[in-house]
Amino acid sequence: MLRRLHPVQPDSFAFTAANLAWAQGQISKYPEGRQASAIIPLLWRAQEQEGWLSRKAIETVADMLGMAYIRALEVATFYFMFQLQPVGSVAHVQICGTTSCMICGAEELIAVCKEMIAKTPHTLSLDGKFSWEEVECLGACANAPMAQIGKDYYEDLTAEKLRDMIARFSKGEVPTPGPQNGRYAAEPLSGLTTLKDFESGRQQYNASAQRAVDLRDTVKRIDGTEVPILTPWLGKAAKTAAKVAVGAAVAAVAVAAVDAVTKPKRTAKKADAADGTEAVAKAPRATKKKTEGDA
Ligand code: FES
Repeated sequence: MLRRLHPVQPDSFAFTAANLAWAQGQISKYPEGRQASAIIPLLWRAQEQEGWLSRKAIETVADMLGMAYIRALEVATFYFMFQLQPVGSVAHVQICGTTSCMICGAEELIAVCKEMIAKTPHTLSLDGKFSWEEVECLGACANAPMAQIGKDYYEDLTAEKLRDMIARFSKGEVPTPGPQNGRYAAEPLSGLTTLKDFESGRQQYNASAQRAVDLRDTVKRIDGTEVPILTPWLGKAAKTAAKVAVGAAVAAVAVAAVDAVTKPKRTAKKADAADGTEAVAKAPRATKKKTEGDA
């Protein structure tokens, strides 16, 4: 499938202040000269902020990483996770159309998207709230057919379930991600047959769905307020620098204090050493003490 930049492009792109700080933190993960390694997270953040990747966004990221524009364009146009055209303001629905999902009803899900969103993929619905596309296997084959909507998986879908979900998204609701047929995760529909101990003490939803419910940002765009800046080493670096500065200051005061006490004696010893007696007498003992201390 050809992936091209959208014919209609915005004039500019800029990260929000919080996202810029986050991006700079990501860049700091890599050694000098390897900043290009941060391209995937930065493009992803730009997409999360705007919903899709414009040429200006790609070029801005390339500038931040010291890359030729063509290198950044190669990455953005290669990976299907990057959207090169505007997507629905509420949700972009990605229907898996690969083998397991196709056998279990993906074509019916695509028919719902054509009916409720737009006849063709990558096309905005009339109200601008939705768009859709068919994607390759998303790795949830045991829960086929499935769709990724925003950041989460909706599994064990039927045409009716998907229809209901799109209607709820449209009203501003966020349906609970995960299996939609009552399964907890990917166990048999009739329940666990082995490892039954794991049934006790578990959360309401499986780990992935529970996290999605707890974070509540399934289809929310990133604005820098909801995700922590995961670059703790930046804070540590600042604290370490402060500690080093305090340590150096304390050491300087200590040296000055020692000097104040010992300098007159050293001067006297120097005077003794002038005739050679002190240096010859003290040197072997000092060496011996140091050796014992080291041991
Ligand atoms: S075939 Fe659809 S998730 Fe794998």
